[in-house]
Amino acid sequence: MRSGKFITLEGGEGVGKTTSLDFIRSYLENKGIELVVTREPGGTPYAEKIRDLLLESSAEKVAVDTELLLMFAARAQHLAELIKPAIAKGQWVLCSRFTDSTYAYQGGGRGISFERIRTLEQWVHDDFQPDLTLYFDLPVEIGMQRATARGHLDRIEQEDLHFFERVRAAYLTRAKQSSRYRIVDASQSIAKVQEQIAAILHKL
Ligand SMILES: Nc1ncnc2c1ncn2[C@@H]1O[C@H](COP(=O)(O)OP(=O)(O)O)[C@@H](O)[C@H]1O
Ligand SMILES: [Mg+2]
Repeated sequence: MRSGKFITLEGGEGVGKTTSLDFIRSYLENKGIELVVTREPGGTPYAEKIRDLLLESSAEKVAVDTELLLMFAARAQHLAELIKPAIAKGQWVLCSRFTDSTYAYQGGGRGISFERIRTLEQWVHDDFQPDLTLYFDLPVEIGMQRATARGHLDRIEQEDLHFFERVRAAYLTRAKQSSRYRIVDASQSIAKVQEQIAAILHKL
């Protein structure tokens, strides 16, 4: 039985997911909620090793199915060792990226069919879904400017603008189909973004 809530943050590069984590953490902790903050790919020591494999630049071409399966391998570990035990204890879990990222990047970006991703989703976490997903929407060029200014770009961040346009389109399609999504206008100032987030969390 689930008692804690599972909240995920989604969006492209440089939209402000990491920046918002601390704000959301203090908002929820001020309400007396015990919160675990984590991220994907990764989140446990073993899953972080898979993250390193996924994000480091590679001389050898990484096949799209390899990338997809490693994403779900890391996720299976994260769910088993961190997310599900925390939720079972009544803690809330706040996670930067989850399976919606896989639909957006490996689906929209790389062109793997959503049906194929759905098969792995059912295998790895079936009907275990976030209670709330904040999708940070931002024009691709602005996100890439922010991400580039932040520093070194990882293997996936080095894709071209067309790739990230497909990622954004996939996110927007999914966000409109599911009631667990809330769209945050990430083009606004950090203070305005936080106001939007507070209004959403207040309702939750
Ligand atoms: N609303 C905002 N307006 C301007 N800059 C922002 C905003 N939100 C985040 N940033 C900056 O953009 C960069 C990327 O933000 P970050 O939180 O790392 O994005 P993500 O984790 O979604 O890739 C950081 O340098 C951050 O300080
Ligand atoms: Mg980040």
